[in-house]
Amino acid sequence: MTLGAMEGTIEITATRTSAEQHCIEPNCGARFGINERLYVCSQCGGLLDIERTTEDDAETLRTVWQARLASFDPRDRSGVWRYRELLPFTESAPIVSLAEGNTPLYDAPRSARYCGLAALRLKHQGLNPTGSFKDTGMTVAVTQARILGARTVVCASTGNTAASLAAYAARAELQCAILVPSGQITNAKLAQSLDYGAAVLELEGNFDDAMRVIRELTEDESIYLVNSINPFRIEGQKTVAFELMQQCGWRVPDHVVVPGGNLGNSAAFGKGFKELFDLGIIDRLPQLTIVQAEGAAPLAHLFSDSDGGRFTADSLLPDARQLAPVKYPNTLATAIKIGAPVSWKKALRAVLWTGGRVLSVSEDEIADAKAIIGRDGIGCEPASATTVAGIKQMIQKNLIEREETVVAVLTGHVLKDADYAINYHRQNLYTHDSESLPGEMRRIEGNYSNPPASVKATKAAILEYLKREQPQQ
Ligand code: F0G
Repeated sequence: MTLGAMEGTIEITATRTSAEQHCIEPNCGARFGINERLYVCSQCGGLLDIERTTEDDAETLRTVWQARLASFDPRDRSGVWRYRELLPFTESAPIVSLAEGNTPLYDAPRSARYCGLAALRLKHQGLNPTGSFKDTGMTVAVTQARILGARTVVCASTGNTAASLAAYAARAELQCAILVPSGQITNAKLAQSLDYGAAVLELEGNFDDAMRVIRELTEDESIYLVNSINPFRIEGQKTVAFELMQQCGWRVPDHVVVPGGNLGNSAAFGKGFKELFDLGIIDRLPQLTIVQAEGAAPLAHLFSDSDGGRFTADSLLPDARQLAPVKYPNTLATAIKIGAPVSWKKALRAVLWTGGRVLSVSEDEIADAKAIIGRDGIGCEPASATTVAGIKQMIQKNLIEREETVVAVLTGHVLKDADYAINYHRQNLYTHDSESLPGEMRRIEGNYSNPPASVKATKAAILEYLKREQPQQ
């Protein structure tokens, strides 16, 4: 790789590298060409990983990635393609980008106090072009769809993958079909997908049913599936680990905490951290903790008998590694209402690599944590708030020390689910969970609710109101 000035931008000549796909199952390990259209191993059905070799050393990569922050090359303006030495493409790839990534790492003092930490940082992936972390994977998967000459791109989704795919497919001028569980995705996500011109197919059943149907659809050659079972999605999403570490000045935090649904995101973080570590770009791995919603927590169930959500050596027996799907997943955090997560083996691997944990949190914990993240002036959608709720739980159980360095990853924008926020603040948020009476909905008590007030349209009434209602700490 060389670094030189060209027309005011940084021009990089990448070292020749090679990439291939391989099966992650230890007993199989079959290898495939990078442009073979596969989603799972054609020999054993296992998940696929993309392996890329680079001849660049750690120092060169860090220097080039740093220099690109000041570049105007569109590839460098993307927080994904900036790290292209570790992506499985040639220099001439027909990139489909919306300048994704580049998301802020905020200090969140109120959330830190709420959890009992000295400090907490929030990496806000909800500030991507379509309002969720999915964009970092979609730019890569839709680029690969173009390379493969696909005509139609499809996904099953709880809403965010759909909105993201719809946008990137529109940019690439590809037909796009999204399969969503009818009545179970938020209006904002539905509105985005419609606006970006996707064919929105509302299916009976839940996300897991939509996922099952879509895998059958991909037997058709002209259709390309971009759910996170597709390893190119994971390649894009792993760059969030790169961007995060760069923002931390390559000083590795003790803990990184992510929400878990279909478990592609946690799989991608694990792969990203491991690649940086193997290249010598970081000198240790952060502990990766995955937090699921109690009613949709199949991976957490696998860990629950072990020490505080950590997998112990005893629990590594082969039988202990079979995930029991949750047949009727249930949570108001609709983004992660998933009972049979496709990438669970990769997520499990990530937790084991990093010595992390898997936990679950209740609906009440999610709701209050979300309100607190709002009070930091940041906000997020419900699924993202599992992270802060999980951190609070870990502090209470002495699994994290007050002075440790912690980053929580927020995955979706606060406006992705405005109804949830309004219902919470009006004390009108109802759930049906293990605490509810049979056949009845239970109201979630909003401990940090901030309802709108009716005030007379006079100066005196407004001043009187402001005097009475001192800002809450
Ligand atoms: N947070 C948000 C906001 C999400 O939309 C999702 C997943 C997750 C967390 C969980 O990430 O699946 O990689 O473990 N949403 C998918 C979708 C399933 O279809 O939009 P994961």
